[in-house]
Amino acid sequence: MPHSKITGLGFYVPETVVTNADLAAQMDTSDEWIIERTGIRERRFFKEGVDTVSNMGARAARIAMERAGKKPEDIDMVVFATLSPDYHFPGCGVLVQRELGLRHIPCFDVRQQCAGFIYALSLADQYIKTGFAKTILVIGAEIQSNVMEISDRGRNMAVIFGDGAGAVLLEAHEETGKGILSTHIHADGTHAEELFVEHVGSKLKKRVTHEMIDDGSLLPHMNGKMVFINAVKYFPEVIREALKANNLKEADIDLLIPHQANARITQAVQKEFNMPDEKVVSNIHKYGNTTAASIPIALTEAWEAGRVKEGDLVCIAAFGSGFVWASALIRW
Ligand SMILES: CC(C)(COP(=O)(O)OP(=O)(O)OC[C@H]1O[C@@H](n2cnc3c(N)ncnc32)[C@H](O)[C@@H]1OP(=O)(O)O)[C@@H](O)C(=O)NCCC(=O)NCCS
Repeated sequence: MPHSKITGLGFYVPETVVTNADLAAQMDTSDEWIIERTGIRERRFFKEGVDTVSNMGARAARIAMERAGKKPEDIDMVVFATLSPDYHFPGCGVLVQRELGLRHIPCFDVRQQCAGFIYALSLADQYIKTGFAKTILVIGAEIQSNVMEISDRGRNMAVIFGDGAGAVLLEAHEETGKGILSTHIHADGTHAEELFVEHVGSKLKKRVTHEMIDDGSLLPHMNGKMVFINAVKYFPEVIREALKANNLKEADIDLLIPHQANARITQAVQKEFNMPDEKVVSNIHKYGNTTAASIPIALTEAWEAGRVKEGDLVCIAAFGSGFVWASALIRW
């Protein structure tokens, strides 16, 4: 049976850097509050007319393809993870296909929020294992800066999220014990409304009203404490599940790349596994929480910095709105 292996990776973040001080000038918050509660110092905000979720994803994908030595005609499938597509429909997968000039291959979106990239990777991995596809682009990209309100009313979420994109190129190979060892994906919809955007959805006869704009119900809602409690429970659980499935131990992990939700969540997971700083990737101070993009951005940065070496055991894990959570073990 073929296995899948990451052979190229890339990321793109918008140019505009927004510091905590920039936000504090527009809402009742402070650099100290944001750093203490989230670890974030700055994030990137997209530029209208320059950056879109699909074109940021395509830029990251181009880098991944170049690094893997692949041309547009080599790609068999696109799996695009995002909660913030350019259009309500169609999804970003087909827009990337157009942008990169890919063949008439299957291209689709995955909407699994912060666990979106691992869900997308898991799907792509299954298609490779069954022989359906040999070369798949897996992309995670988000624009969040325009769904939040940069105001006192929106401050609990506006300080956390940022924009960006990351991508990997997944290829079929026959070497056993290398590449994606396993993926683990879970969901519990009972808490769907603890982190969600209610409108503009399809539940109501009038999808959008002036009242929704005025009363703030178009903004995302997050029960921060509930998210925190569940994240620190499910991150370790799903990492242990991956280790057990592969007969590996906690100490075997060379590099842990958690979804960059919040530095305090990452620290809690790190403490749970008693891991030194050099084994845990954290770049949230630079980009904030970029949801489906955070893992491919962090993975690419770690790889570029020489922190991911041949033979290393890399663990990626995520938790997010849904609730959904996931992990994957990769032997590099
Ligand atoms: C969001 C989070 C940082 C809030 O921290 P917290 O200690 O739980 O803070 P609370 O929500 O209890 O709010 C404490 C106070 O700070 C205020 N506050 C909220 N956002 C603020 C901000 N940006 N700046 C300053 N004060 C803020 C609240 O209004 C509240 O004030 P009050 O006590 O007068 O009511 C925290 O809950 C968290 O990290 N949750 C996980 C969020 C996350 O990771 N989401 C991504 C998931 S993928």
